[in-house]
Formats: sequence, C-alpha cells, structure tokens
Amino acid sequence: MVMNAYKRYLITSALPYANGPIHIGHLAGVYVPSDIYTRYLRLKGMDVISVCGSDEHGVPITIKARKEGVSPQSIVDKYHAIIKKSFEDFGITFDIYSRTSSKTHHEESAAFFKKLYNKGEFIEKTTEQYYDPEVNQFLADRYITGTCPHCSNENAYGDQCEQCGTSLNATDLINPKSTLSGAKPIMKPTKHWFLPLDKYQGFLEKWILEDHKEWKVNVYGQCKSWLDHGLQPRAVSRDLDWGVPVPVEGAEGKVLYVWFDAPIGYISATKDLTPDWEKYWKDPETRMIHFIGKDNIVFHCIVFPAMLKAEGSYILPDNVPANEFLNLEGDKISTSRNWAVWLHEYLEEFPGKQDVLRYTLTANMPETKDNDFTWKDFQARNNNELVAILGNFVNRALVLTHKYFEGKVPALGELTQYDKDALSELPKLKQGIEKNLELFRFRDALRDAMNIARLGNKYLADTEPWKIFKTDPNRVATILNISLQITANITILAEPFLPFTCAKLAKMINASNLGWSKGGDTDLLPSGHVIEQPALLFDKIEDDEINKQLAKLMDTKLQNEVNSKEVAPQKEIISYEDFIKMDIRISKVLAAEVVPKTQKLLKLEVDTGIDKRTIVSGIAEYFKPEQVVGREVCVLVNLEPRKIRGIESHGMILMAKNSDDSLRFVQPNESVDSGSTVS
Ligand code: MF3
Ligand code: ZN
Repeated sequence: MVMNAYKRYLITSALPYANGPIHIGHLAGVYVPSDIYTRYLRLKGMDVISVCGSDEHGVPITIKARKEGVSPQSIVDKYHAIIKKSFEDFGITFDIYSRTSSKTHHEESAAFFKKLYNKGEFIEKTTEQYYDPEVNQFLADRYITGTCPHCSNENAYGDQCEQCGTSLNATDLINPKSTLSGAKPIMKPTKHWFLPLDKYQGFLEKWILEDHKEWKVNVYGQCKSWLDHGLQPRAVSRDLDWGVPVPVEGAEGKVLYVWFDAPIGYISATKDLTPDWEKYWKDPETRMIHFIGKDNIVFHCIVFPAMLKAEGSYILPDNVPANEFLNLEGDKISTSRNWAVWLHEYLEEFPGKQDVLRYTLTANMPETKDNDFTWKDFQARNNNELVAILGNFVNRALVLTHKYFEGKVPALGELTQYDKDALSELPKLKQGIEKNLELFRFRDALRDAMNIARLGNKYLADTEPWKIFKTDPNRVATILNISLQITANITILAEPFLPFTCAKLAKMINASNLGWSKGGDTDLLPSGHVIEQPALLFDKIEDDEINKQLAKLMDTKLQNEVNSKEVAPQKEIISYEDFIKMDIRISKVLAAEVVPKTQKLLKLEVDTGIDKRTIVSGIAEYFKPEQVVGREVCVLVNLEPRKIRGIESHGMILMAKNSDDSLRFVQPNESVDSGSTVS
C-alpha cells in the first residue's frame, strides 16, 4: 500500500484468448484500468513495466479451428494480429504484447512444470475419462454433448448445459455423444498430474485472509469462499494435441492445462521484454499487480500463487483488483452471440475518438458490481461532459487568450479571495486522483480529474472576463492566467484517463515538459509564454450515429433469433422393413378428459377404424379436452400397450413439436376415413 516501499512495479493484464477480437467488456474490466494505472505510475517516474499477450491455447480454440476447417495456429495468428493492433490503436501502452504460442513461452512453461515435477510437487493420478473410439482421442468436456439430467436439453455440453445454466461433468450427461465423430464415448484410463492445492490451504489462508485484507471486497470474498470450501488437488494436464506438451516421459498426447501455462505467460512476456526480467519477478521490492475480470479471480489469487509458491523463487502479487462484468444494452456480452461492441470496429467507425470510449468505460467501470454500457449514455457522456465541460472550458480559455492577448499568457495581477480559493482546489484535486488511483477507484479518480475542468468552467462563468475587458483589462489578464494554469493542470492530471486529448492539449498550450510532480502547481505557464491556436478537443455526437449503432445491435438480435431455431439432428438410418413395421391409422377422437390428479395427461377415446380404444397422451398442457374431441388424428396403433397412471394406453398420437416448443397435431389436410393407413 505504501507506494514508496517498493522499488518497482510489474503490472500484468489478463491474457485475452486469441479466439475472438477485443470488446468493450474486456476493456472496461481489465485493459482500461490497467492502462490508467500504468500510465499514472510512469508519469510519476516509477520503474514500471506492463506485460500482456495472447492466450493461445485451450479447447475453445481447437473447436473454433475444427469448425472453420483450419489449424488452431491459423486461428490464433488471425486474432493475435487483430487484438495487438486494436490495443495499440486504442492507446493501451503495454511494454510488451506477447503470445503463448511463442518459443520463449513453450520453453518457460515447460521448464516451470519440470521444476515442480522434479521437486515432487505433483500427484500423479490415473482416472477414467471419456474417449472417442472412432477417432482414437480422449474427449475434452466441450467435445461431448448429451442430454442434460436437469432439464432434458438434448444438446447440453460436457461442462455445462446452456439451456438451464447448470455446470456439469461429462459423466452426468445422458446418452453422451462425441462431437468429433458422433460416436458414443467409452471410458478409458488416463494419467494426469495434479497440483495439490490442499497442501497450500494454510499458506493461502494466511496470505490472503490475514495479510491482504485490503483487497477489494469482491476479490477477498471470492477467495474466502474458495478457501472455506476447502481446496482440492487440480489437474494441470489434459489429453489434447494443442498446447505445451507435458515435458516428461510417458506423456505423449498430453499438454499442460491452459490455466497452468497461461499465467506463466506473464513471466515469458517479461523475459521477452528485458534480459533484466528476474528483478521484476524475484525481488521482493517489486510490487506485482494483476488486472483481471472476476471470472479469473480463483486462478490469479489461488492457483497461480500456489504454483509460484511451489516453484519457490518468485514473488506473489500484492494486489489483484478484479472488476465485475460490463453488460451491453442490458444483455450479457457474448462473443458467440456477437453481442458486443468490438474494439477494432469502434476504432474504424469512430476514428480519433479513442478517449470518448476510454472515458465512458471508466465512468461506468464495473468496479464493485456489474454495469451497463448503452449507446445513449455514450452519447450523453460525450456531449454533456467531454464537449460541454472539458472541451468548452479549454476552448474558452484559449480563444479568449488569443482574442485579448495575442496568444500570450497574460501576467497575473492581484488575486481576489475567489481566485485564491479556486487555485487552492488544484492540489486537492490532484491528491484525490492519486488517492483514488492507489485504491483502484478509477471512477472516483476520473471524477476528480473532470472536476478540474468543472472548476475552470465555473471560474469563467463566475468571473465573466468577456464582459469586463473594456473596463478592466488587468483583471481579465489575471482571470485568463488562472484559466490557463487550470488548463495546464488538466493536461497533466487527466493524461492517464484521456491520453490522446492531453497530448493535443499539451501541443495547444505549447508545453511538452509538464511532469506529474508539477500537477497541482499554479504557475505552470509563465506570463509571456506563447500558446498555439486552439482546435476543438471533442465534437458533438449526433443521434444518427447512435441510431446506426443501435440498428446494428438490432440486426444481431434478429440474426440470433434465426440461429437459435435449432433443428434436431437426423437420427440413424433405418431400413424399409423397420419403417413398415409401424401401423399408423387415421383415427377420430371421440372423447377426452384430463387424467385425475395429473396436469399433463389426457385420456382419449379414439375410433381407429379397427376398434375403439383408449390412449393416454401427454398433451393436456397444450390442449383442452374440448379442443381435441372430433379431430382426425394419426395414431400409431401397434405400439406395445403401456400402463400410465393405472390406465392402459393402446397406441400413440402423432404430434409435431414446434421450435418454440408448442405442439401441433399431425392431421390429414382433408377428411379421410377412420382406419385408413398412413405410409
Ligand atoms: N484467457 C483468459 C481469459 O480470457 C485469461 C488468462 S489470464 C492468464 O479469461 F493469467 F492466465 F494469463
Ligand atoms: Zn439443462
């Protein structure tokens, strides 16, 4: 916490998966706060490096590759390039943006595993796992689908049912199927390496629950809940052909689990950045901070620290300021449903407006709870805050200086109490920014920075220099001097949040040598100092631009509705002989009633032409008895009789199930005699 106790900083930002581009959720959760913090430390003159890179392993990347019929490498090459460029264009200033398919990383993570292996830190265990006998491959949970035991969704995944949201084990699925071949998977023994997290339970409890009570409540709370449940050994290897091969004998076809190798990516990125990497990782005078989203908390606060501790020579993070999630227009952001504002598209559609998005995302940062991004709010933040407060103040100060004093900073005259009060706000606002940044309260820090512009606006509105120039030019000189000192303070103190704007501002006031330490000072621009012609810092965003974005999201919604109408896959081929065994007859419903004490069952009397018989059918939730009586329906008459709720049912009525789960009778389009065969 005490900034000066540390000699240097190592800032890490969660390595994004290279299976899709960056969206505003990633930015608000991780990269904008990490960049603000890093810029702040750099401006203060700290020894700081910020490392990141693409996370290029893991099952979702192999699934995407298979779907598109390309190699996993070509998937990660594509997205690594898009992600890297969009970060650069957006002004996220990593010192290195590396990748986990690099040679350095493969070597580094293999060496890390090897070291733990040689120290005897792993447990080797053989367990039974699903295996596809047709393609001869073990199946990751995501490669298995089947029926959810909770909601009967037939397309649930081996790790989760997306219909009811339950997380599953592959062995929970009813009728499991390999998505690789459609085959029924078999159980086969396989050996894996486990990190015994339980061994670190005591250490982690002390380190987190006692020594890091200052962590954000959301982070501390999640750690506590994991620790209270008791930690279990975790497998750090997988049967997969994409990743870092497990570097020991007898591990053919096995790779390191992606969550084992990815955080080591922070180390390999540092190694790629500087030969001096060890001082950032091994000297306790380095303060390491992990910027992540809330879904990464357990890996960064429990698993990775346990790995580092087991290895023995590395420092641990001092803080992990994880954010919650950002939603978009009230809905969860989703890469697969294309429900997102993509950074690379934003940069194309709003050229030169990086700071508007940085500002909006910081102002709405999901620091303590999930938050929502809306295009209307984006527009309002731009028009009512950036244009109306910041842009307006700076523009008035500079334009008036040119109008009255030929673009030279006028001399300061005698100060009124009001002037003194205004100037005394500056160091306080600076302190507020610093304190809030050091506590990872980015929204409050941004508010303090904007309050400098609010102060300036109010100062000009209250002193009204344009009304008194003719009568009191000396007073106007003082007012504009003060306004320009306020402008110079904005140039310094808003830079971590609005770097593009502050670079423009520095040019306009012709001051490139203002350092953070001068923030709060009131004599930054000496009288006589020449300033440049002002240009507008922000332009108004009109409704049609916002409506275009909303229309784009509406298209996505419609597209998703079309896509979600999933059709059940074709069943296995049957012979003609199988088919003609079914005896289907047109029948007439004579009577119907709900089976007592049930809600779903109707008891029907039907005339099949052959006979009159009873059929019990599960359609009572869809049809009332009076909607059924008199209908001509199709009945499978030679289905083995079955007792349902004590009533013998002699056949089955054919129904069609609509995509919205509603039911329809299969009926002849014109009347047909009872007993006619259907074939
Ligand atoms: N790729 C992961 C995610 O997007 C984050 C990995 S962070 C690392 O959730 F530490 F493992 F690198
Ligand atoms: Zn389910």
